[in-house]
Amino acid sequence: MASSRSLSMSMACAVLVLSLGVVMVNSVGLSRFDELFHPSWALDHFSYEGEALKMKLDHYSGAGFSSKSKYMFGKVTIQIKLVEGDSAGTVTAFYMSSDGPNHNEFDFEFLGNTTGEPYLVQTNVYVNGVGNREQRLNLWFDPTQDFHSYSILWNQRQVVFLVDETPIRVHSNLEHRGVPYPKDQPMGVYSSIWNADDWATQGGRVKTDWTHAPFVASYKGFHIDACECLIAVADAANVRRCGGGEKRFWWDTPTMSELSLHQSHQLLWVRSKHMVYDYCSDKTRFPVVPVECVHHRH
Ligand SMILES: *[C@@H]1O[C@H](CO)[C@@H](O)[C@H](O)[C@H]1NC(C)=O
Repeated sequence: MASSRSLSMSMACAVLVLSLGVVMVNSVGLSRFDELFHPSWALDHFSYEGEALKMKLDHYSGAGFSSKSKYMFGKVTIQIKLVEGDSAGTVTAFYMSSDGPNHNEFDFEFLGNTTGEPYLVQTNVYVNGVGNREQRLNLWFDPTQDFHSYSILWNQRQVVFLVDETPIRVHSNLEHRGVPYPKDQPMGVYSSIWNADDWATQGGRVKTDWTHAPFVASYKGFHIDACECLIAVADAANVRRCGGGEKRFWWDTPTMSELSLHQSHQLLWVRSKHMVYDYCSDKTRFPVVPVECVHHRH
């Protein structure tokens, strides 16, 4: 892919696609933080160390960054090294979201823990403003010791959450069964770290120990390979350009419409060995199994 193409170059390509209707892949490759993102709050809680960006939470503030552009469909990957040692009460999130009351959102939330106890990864999917689709798992490695890649793949057929390229969750397009699917709102890419000790760790029983602040999450390997939306045009025009289903983009090719056999096996392994909570099997919250869950059952 066009991994070294600059942002301004791809903007130019996007304009070209729009004005000439040229069939062309518009992607933004592996880039430094500044080309794709900017800090969105608490600028004094950011620091740069070599190729890594660090964002800290202390008792004054958390911090967050967001993408400069919005996207429709594609794949977004960030490498993250989570808060080391005591991270109880803290949440670090990496997500995509659209704006407005009927927004769509794909979330990774990393729930901290006391020293030596495992982080939990919570994922959620909001469609038309409605979430309540939490899944939780522990990881097969310690996410505080090294950088690992966390990705969201989004196309017309599925939203896939991946950890080091292993799928941990699939949200399939089941519009044919009447389930709304996120496909007509441009989404930004975001990350933030904040205090959530009212719920995050062991159900909110363990509070943030501020004597251990600052809590620092590190980032590198920012990669957005997605169809960039043009801010100057209406959503409908971006839908036509990015979601035309004309197989212009690699994520629209038939092999990307579902997991490969190998990936399906990986997902089964994750679900059987690492999943600790799935809203799909929470009979108390959902006496009637949500429609999108039914295909998960084997
Ligand atoms: C924290 O550790 C406890 C004990 O091992 C575990 O039950 C819990 O799921 C872990 N994660 C969170 C976020 O509470």
